[in-house]
Amino acid sequence: MAKRKIVALPGDGIGKIVLKQALRVLDAVGFEAEYVYGDIGWEFWCKEGNPLPQRTLDLIKRHKIALFGAITSKPNEEARAELDSSLQGKGFVYSSPIVGLRQKFNLDICVRPCKSYQGNPLNFIRRGKGSAIEEPYIDVVIFRQNTECLYAGVEWTNPPENVYKALKSHPKFDENFGNVPPEELSVSTRIFTKKATGRILTAAFEYAKGNGYSSVTVCEKPNVIRETSGLMWKLAKDIQKNFYPGIKLINTNIDAQMMWLTKNPEDYGVIVAGNMFGDIASDAFAGLIGGLGFACSAQFSSDGIAVFEPTHGSAPKYAGYEIPIVNPIAMIESACMMLDYLDEKNKAEEIRKGVAGIILEGKVRTYDMMKMSGSPEVIKNGAASTIQMTDAIISRIVK
Ligand code: NAI
Ligand code: MG
Repeated sequence: MAKRKIVALPGDGIGKIVLKQALRVLDAVGFEAEYVYGDIGWEFWCKEGNPLPQRTLDLIKRHKIALFGAITSKPNEEARAELDSSLQGKGFVYSSPIVGLRQKFNLDICVRPCKSYQGNPLNFIRRGKGSAIEEPYIDVVIFRQNTECLYAGVEWTNPPENVYKALKSHPKFDENFGNVPPEELSVSTRIFTKKATGRILTAAFEYAKGNGYSSVTVCEKPNVIRETSGLMWKLAKDIQKNFYPGIKLINTNIDAQMMWLTKNPEDYGVIVAGNMFGDIASDAFAGLIGGLGFACSAQFSSDGIAVFEPTHGSAPKYAGYEIPIVNPIAMIESACMMLDYLDEKNKAEEIRKGVAGIILEGKVRTYDMMKMSGSPEVIKNGAASTIQMTDAIISRIVK
């Protein structure tokens, strides 16, 4: 049988480092695939004026599955300055290739699991009764709507006349901002559609049902953001009532959720939110289970395209080290999500068992797990390198 093809997108900085380690682990667990490398990131912006070339989009379209490291994004002015001199002044405008990827393929469902590993020194602890210290077990999976909301890019500074007029027609705008001239206005729109909101909610409920979670929490702010958060909450109630009556539906406001984060994080299971609040909630929960070195994610479209990536970025300051120090676990966990998706659940579990074993044993820890600040010195001071951590995980894997 022909080998399954997977698009490997290393990207920039530590993306290149961690992706390579994830592929070693996939190989060690006996996952057979051919990796087709795709160009993405800063290098291609500088050389070609496009950080997400059409040939990469074609590859993803053809093979449908991508494993992505991370990219570097920079503000417009820096981007312009670093563009190859032959391309300067020709109208090239930088935009983030990861946001581009989400939009091009309509990767509207983003899944970010945050589960604590026993023995991880970065796990959240809190004061219990008296002098007791508690370490709650956290098992939260965040479903973040990935294409709409405040991140859709529908925004203006000094809005054009027709937009300004439309805003003026809203009584609240007129009352509160009616005297502000357009050139002093910046407006970012928060757009939710019924279709995409329904899709992320259904994905969350379906996941809860299929994976034994007893509740789905909608984390928005419907009491204030009445239209968009309100739409999500209303649809959630309908979907729960009609299709998932056995799953408890909880409503939290994003601000209160951030407070409850440290009070009772163990009470949450599946959480679903719009793009921005989902982004916030997933970073916040990731902080309880070890931070960026542990935060993995998957993104899905409605027509069978899936991209798996760690939540972290390219961490350029750690990219050029002779001995890489960053934690490969977030990337390796993202590869496990890919195995789950491909119905290779046994292989995913084998890798997760390896990761769990290494963390519990506590002998091999990257610098973040040792609470060191990153520098080449950390290796001398006892931190495991990226490669040593990967080797340790591989040593526990039984094919
Ligand atoms: P970052 O996630 O790259 O790094 C922030 C800090 O987190 C690092 O300095 C490091 O201390 C820690 N960290 C990140 N990954 C780690 C790992 N695997 N192990 C241990 N520690 C780790 O975010 P930052 O510094 O804000 O952005 C750097 C670049 O990455 C920017 O150009 C940004 O635009 C881009 N970025 C790309 C993302 C993506 O490709 N999906 C996501 C976030 C940022
Ligand atoms: Mg984020």
